[in-house]
Amino acid sequence: NGKPTALIMIFGATGDLANRKLFPSLYKLFEKDKLSEQFAVIGIARRPLTNDEFQNNVRKSIQSASKDDNRVDEFASHFYYHSLDVTDSDSYVSLKKLAGELDEHYQLDGNRIFYLAMAPEFFGTIALHLKEDGLTDVNGFKRLVIEKPFGHDLESAKELNNQIRTAFSEDEIYRIDHYLGKEMVQNIEVIRFANAIFEPLWNNRFISNIQVTSSEILGVEERGRYYEKSGALRDMVQNHMLQMVALLAMEPPIRLNTEEIRSEKVKVLRALRPMEGDEVEQYFVRGQYGSGTVSGEDVPAYRNEVMVSEESNTETYVAGKLMIDNFRWAGVPIYIRTGKRMETKSTKIVIQFKDIPMNLYYRTEQTLNPNLLVIHIQPEEGITLHLNAKKAGQSMEATPVKLNFANKGIDGINTPEAYEKLLFDCMRGDATNFTHWDEVALSWGFVDKISEVWENSKAKNFPNYASGSVGPKEADELLERDGFFWWPVTNLDVDNC
Ligand code: BG6
Repeated sequence: NGKPTALIMIFGATGDLANRKLFPSLYKLFEKDKLSEQFAVIGIARRPLTNDEFQNNVRKSIQSASKDDNRVDEFASHFYYHSLDVTDSDSYVSLKKLAGELDEHYQLDGNRIFYLAMAPEFFGTIALHLKEDGLTDVNGFKRLVIEKPFGHDLESAKELNNQIRTAFSEDEIYRIDHYLGKEMVQNIEVIRFANAIFEPLWNNRFISNIQVTSSEILGVEERGRYYEKSGALRDMVQNHMLQMVALLAMEPPIRLNTEEIRSEKVKVLRALRPMEGDEVEQYFVRGQYGSGTVSGEDVPAYRNEVMVSEESNTETYVAGKLMIDNFRWAGVPIYIRTGKRMETKSTKIVIQFKDIPMNLYYRTEQTLNPNLLVIHIQPEEGITLHLNAKKAGQSMEATPVKLNFANKGIDGINTPEAYEKLLFDCMRGDATNFTHWDEVALSWGFVDKISEVWENSKAKNFPNYASGSVGPKEADELLERDGFFWWPVTNLDVDNC
């Protein structure tokens, strides 16, 4: 029937990611009839649970996603639980036995997906045991799905990669960057390569600058321990932000397959101008939130969050100017910014075109607005093209207008969540929207140089932006120096079309 068949083993099955994202996403696929009846899931974690208890957890996690109890029960009946001590061979041997039984019972053709939804310090040990205890000796396919963080820097990422490569080849490794599963991130490629009107202008002759913003209202929540060592640069820039930049800047691939797209993205990352020494202070701005008000509520400063040092030097905000040194992009700044505890939750890309050669509308003393193409990634999904058109009436004045496309998804229903798409891609063996090792390595190489400088020089002015604000003023200066400004993310919405 062409639907994917597999045994999915989720390591970290009692954790947050499994409950919040993975079970509901699998359920959506099941409900939409995209999974065949031939699938089974083994939830794996340390604590002892019976199958019934685990199935109840699964039911709870998908409650809000479904109203049909029979379907939910049917779905949950495919779930099994195995308690595992990650360092103990015997645990893997009994896991192998269960996997073999399920394989036979559900006729899974020996296809296995190992999903590591847990702390990365165990990835190496698990991969080694999977191999040594025979879990990866399968007749069908074997795939490894891993969550970020993929290392802490290039060095540790290499080490981690070497560990998992003992049991899986590069094309069996699916490194999740959930931004690549977002509908409008995937749309970047289609907007660029399925239209005649953008690609000819998509270069340094017509584009003056590009702005990529991903702002969050949430603070660091309970993740202080992880975030203190990570900061916004490692948490958002190394992966999500640079991935969006790569998709925006890549050359048209000769074919839309995994290898071709990846190789174009890799070229962008290779062309990224490295920042070193003083350049870091010049082209990158770091920020940390102080206390303030978000959505009408008073919230504490980063330094007063749980598991965060009172003298923390960790950045919760990054703005930067990237330059891509190739023929297409020479001279076009790509500004990025991302931060926690900002005014709005919003991910947007603004492509600002150069001014027209001369303004014929000078008599009205008006400066014409530049054309902008705005790609709204989230929360609303859509595209806005900002143009100038005649103001209705007697005069020939030009006035800004917007052409809006609001993406309402299939049948007007919400577009599928990132994890739903990514899980499905992995099941059918499409690795296009996962990050290749080369991309990971190049991104770390770029980011490491910046963190080196930041780690060796304490930020003097932290905290430097209030919670609920638009970030530190230095981020504005970064653009002002080039004669630009950040297009506000709040008034570019697509709600009125
Ligand atoms: C994650 C980061 O990768 O992305 C989080 O670790 C961040 O800190 C999240 O909050 C943002 O994702 P989204 O989909 O809400 O934009």
